[in-house]
Amino acid sequence: MLRVADLHAGYGRVPVLRGIDLAARPGEILLILGPNGAGKSTLLRTIAGFIRPTAGRVELDGRDITGTAPEEVTRAGLRLVLDGHRVFPRLTVRDNLRLGVAFRGRQFDFGTIVAPVFEVFPILRDKLHAQARDLSGGQQQMLALAQAFVAQPKVLLCDEPSLGLAQALIPPILAFLRRWAAQGTAVVIVEQQIEVALDIADQVAIMERGAIQLAGTAAELKRDKRVQEIYLGLGERGEPLMP
Ligand SMILES: Nc1ncnc2c1ncn2[C@@H]1O[C@H](COP(=O)(O)OP(=O)(O)O)[C@@H](O)[C@H]1O
Ligand SMILES: [Mg+2]
Repeated sequence: MLRVADLHAGYGRVPVLRGIDLAARPGEILLILGPNGAGKSTLLRTIAGFIRPTAGRVELDGRDITGTAPEEVTRAGLRLVLDGHRVFPRLTVRDNLRLGVAFRGRQFDFGTIVAPVFEVFPILRDKLHAQARDLSGGQQQMLALAQAFVAQPKVLLCDEPSLGLAQALIPPILAFLRRWAAQGTAVVIVEQQIEVALDIADQVAIMERGAIQLAGTAAELKRDKRVQEIYLGLGERGEPLMP
């Protein structure tokens, strides 16, 4: 379980996060929405230890990890998947996956650990010996997620997993995250593909100018007028504004 309380952080003297409170529970997906520049990526980077907060607290399973170095945060069981499907381009698919497995300590069987990934993304098995740079953007995103999956973190933070991907690839990737969460991982997703993402989310937080403006269950936020108008492009009676 991830808990963030009154978190403040920024770059140099420029404040970005202004008192963020949130919680992500095992088995649930917390979706973070918000316009560009709201501070969503800054929030994930701060939780993961890449930016030192100026105030507030980050807790992982009750343990205070505020201001802890990213490698220590990773060891504690939290993993950040950056936006832009980042993988090691000159390593093969297999070696990218092995790097994920390396976080699990000594005893593991590669085949057993990667089997669930190949079930969902069989293309990664087909391309096991290809260099990651020769994969399409969508395949690289699958690999980035797969690498995090095989590390089996307690908490997964995922920054815009659908960014730059063909529309058809977005539902399977979000469905993978849904199944993953169901195994007991706490998943936090930042996403612009609001409609698809709302369907797989449990909790939603809307961030604007470094603060959470609105939070609730996905069902509550789908019914919220402001969310319908601003984020879903629906009118008064739920009809599409731009058909
Ligand atoms: N490395 C950086 N150095 C300085 N300012 C940054 C840096 N990264 C982001 N910012 C600024 O922080 C604010 C929040 O950015 P970001 O967290 O990337 O927002 P989002 O992910 O919601 O689009 C923006 O004003 C952005 O310009
Ligand atoms: Mg961002």
